[in-house]
Amino acid sequence: MAPTVLITGASQGTGKATALLWARKGYNVVLAARNGDRLGTVAREIRDIGVSALAIPTDVGDAEQVKALINKALAFYDRIDVLVNNAGICLTGTMAQTSLEDWQQIMNTNFWSYVYTIREVLPHFLENQAGSIVNVGSFGGKMPLPNMTAYCASKYAVTGLTQTLKLELAPQGIHVCAVHPGVINSDFMERALFRGSDETESESRRQQMQAMLQQSWVSQPEDIAQTIWDAVQFKQSEKVVGSISLATEAYRLFPGLTQWLMEQALIANR
Ligand SMILES: NC(=O)c1ccc[n+]([C@@H]2O[C@H](COP(=O)([O-])OP(=O)(O)OC[C@H]3O[C@@H](n4cnc5c(N)ncnc54)[C@H](OP(=O)(O)O)[C@@H]3O)[C@@H](O)[C@H]2O)c1
Repeated sequence: MAPTVLITGASQGTGKATALLWARKGYNVVLAARNGDRLGTVAREIRDIGVSALAIPTDVGDAEQVKALINKALAFYDRIDVLVNNAGICLTGTMAQTSLEDWQQIMNTNFWSYVYTIREVLPHFLENQAGSIVNVGSFGGKMPLPNMTAYCASKYAVTGLTQTLKLELAPQGIHVCAVHPGVINSDFMERALFRGSDETESESRRQQMQAMLQQSWVSQPEDIAQTIWDAVQFKQSEKVVGSISLATEAYRLFPGLTQWLMEQALIANR
């Protein structure tokens, strides 16, 4: 029986690229996201490769739906070897500009969904004393980004969860890893929420982010998919993808200086 990978946020972008890559490597693929039509299209592409795929429409921010997702996946394939937590949304705005509902939505999707999937899959991994968990974070979980308080909080939470879980589960033969992308050329903007003090500021943040996608240093979803694959094959514990690793490394070594430079850039852009 072929091994099985379960990927959240698999209907497009990084999740879809990851699903196709793992399928080409011979894995059965369980696909989760809310949009059933898009998931179905990805499942068909995988079956065209000659591999089995199971699409399960799921809102991963809902613990009960995640429980059903893992149960259905195990009932169908009888095994899950790798869990890739990838579903995520973006929220731009300061603390004062974002509502409690905004915070709840972003923490639910970017953080709690990871907790839900891990809790459901863990008994299966512990029984086998094997398995890999990859949590897709962000460079915003390695360094603070201006006007992205809630997003960074959700991604720093993923970093903390991953690093601690790695210590906890290594003795049980379970591999845990974080993959932190920089900016990805995906349709992330489709679901992104832009908050500002008024419409003009929200719109200007949207345009800034759109402009960033045109830069040459932006990663492609396939780059992140390949990093996820390598991270599992080589049992890596953390990977920052692409040239943004220079910035996260600068922040790790010289946090005060890096933050000062970011403040100067913000002042210059006002
Ligand atoms: N794009 C970037 O610049 C960037 C930078 C750093 C880190 N990241 C991280 O990389 C990961 C992938 O990003 P991406 O750019 O590939 O995003 P994307 O193209 O927007 O895809 C996001 C995926 O998550 C799914 N999703 C969102 N909310 C969900 C929910 N409540 N339940 C189930 N699925 C949900 C979406 O499908 P449905 O809407 O159908 O549910 C979609 O399949 C995310 O964790 C993101 O935070 C992205």
